[in-house]
Amino acid sequence: MTSILILNGPNLNLLGRRQPEVYGRTTLAEIESRCRAHAAAIGVDLAFAQSNHEGALVDAIHEAAGRHDGIVLNAGAYTHTSVALMDAIAGVDLPVVELHLSNIHAREAFRHKSYIAPVAAGQICGFGPRGYVLAMDALAGLLAPGAS
Ligand code: DQA
Repeated sequence: MTSILILNGPNLNLLGRRQPEVYGRTTLAEIESRCRAHAAAIGVDLAFAQSNHEGALVDAIHEAAGRHDGIVLNAGAYTHTSVALMDAIAGVDLPVVELHLSNIHAREAFRHKSYIAPVAAGQICGFGPRGYVLAMDALAGLLAPGAS
């Protein structure tokens, strides 16, 4: 069965109470359960993780190779700063869908730059928690036999 890792970066553990005017009131636990329900519906295996630490996210990307078939990555603020995450993705042979709850392109200029985008299969942003399900579908589509 296709296996997907959804990996969340710094401060996403605070979802629900963090800047609700930007990120809404849905918690990460609620997002995880929506993702688990969707994984069951589309027949994929799902791992879901969060870390506030850049090195732990690098480790998770390395460890995903051989365990999972692709990654949905919301790298949070590391999106805009982390050459290490970009290199980690470039170093493993796994498709990555970059994800953000907010539309990073409609926010501050420093959020317009993504170190993930050049090594990602694509980017989904601006759709709030629903973006997680959209990203799962995008990744599952890429991984489906005969996908184009
Ligand atoms: C975010 C956008 C980032 O700019 C921000 O640093 C986050 C969350 C999003 O999901 O909208 O932590 O990745």
